[in-house]
Amino acid sequence: MSATSVSKDAQLPPHGFNSQHNHWLERKIGELVAEDFRRAHVFSQFGIDFCCGGGKSLEVACERADVDPAKVVAALNAATLTGSKEDELNQLPLDQLIEYIESTHHQYVREKAPLLVEYSEKMIRAHGEHYAEIVPFAGWVRALVEDLMPHLMKEEKILFPAIRAMSHGEQVEACFGHIGNPINAMQHEHEEVGLILQKLHELTNDFTPPEYACTTWRVCYATLAEFEADLHQHIHLENNILFPKALVLTQ
Ligand SMILES: [Fe+2]
Ligand SMILES: [Fe+2]
Repeated sequence: MSATSVSKDAQLPPHGFNSQHNHWLERKIGELVAEDFRRAHVFSQFGIDFCCGGGKSLEVACERADVDPAKVVAALNAATLTGSKEDELNQLPLDQLIEYIESTHHQYVREKAPLLVEYSEKMIRAHGEHYAEIVPFAGWVRALVEDLMPHLMKEEKILFPAIRAMSHGEQVEACFGHIGNPINAMQHEHEEVGLILQKLHELTNDFTPPEYACTTWRVCYATLAEFEADLHQHIHLENNILFPKALVLTQ
């Protein structure tokens, strides 16, 4: 059955869909990529052919690839954010903001955290005996990663699903009681991450490699500086946009 032959009722959007999605579904894949090449990465990620299949509408392409259009639209919104990013993020429905945080910032932490550990351990092997600052530095990098990984998991498995359900108007019966409890816990963990970063700043002269630093050492500090910038944006979105809006839903 082609998409055009489906009755209007049968085309009702999946749960969580709203009119903001409709303008995406009717657009052709090729046109979307021509407007913004970053959308090609999203289509690749979902197994949607944006090259030979560029003439299809997004709705038909999602059907062919057997993927949830709501997820593709959320990823497209996230990839397309431009200009006043803050304003756009502020206006996203909470389920899409969560999708953005997970697909952008949580994904980033998962990609870069193992690299930071790898680089810092390599620094110990190569120079740990000669430069006393390296071993404690590597220890704090490991502490940062060991704090962050379970933190992401708690957000993804406990807090975010509850906020997502609340944003869909569902009643949330959870073991943690009021949503403010896990929010407080996550904010406390953000503060702990901030303290570790402060320690790393002190140990590294604000991520400035010494003159004698080897390439791995320099790459490690540069990666850490980038990692911190991403974490700041990540934590800002959670503490200042997502969590306050989730608390409003309970009032
Ligand atoms: Fe997070
Ligand atoms: Fe967080």
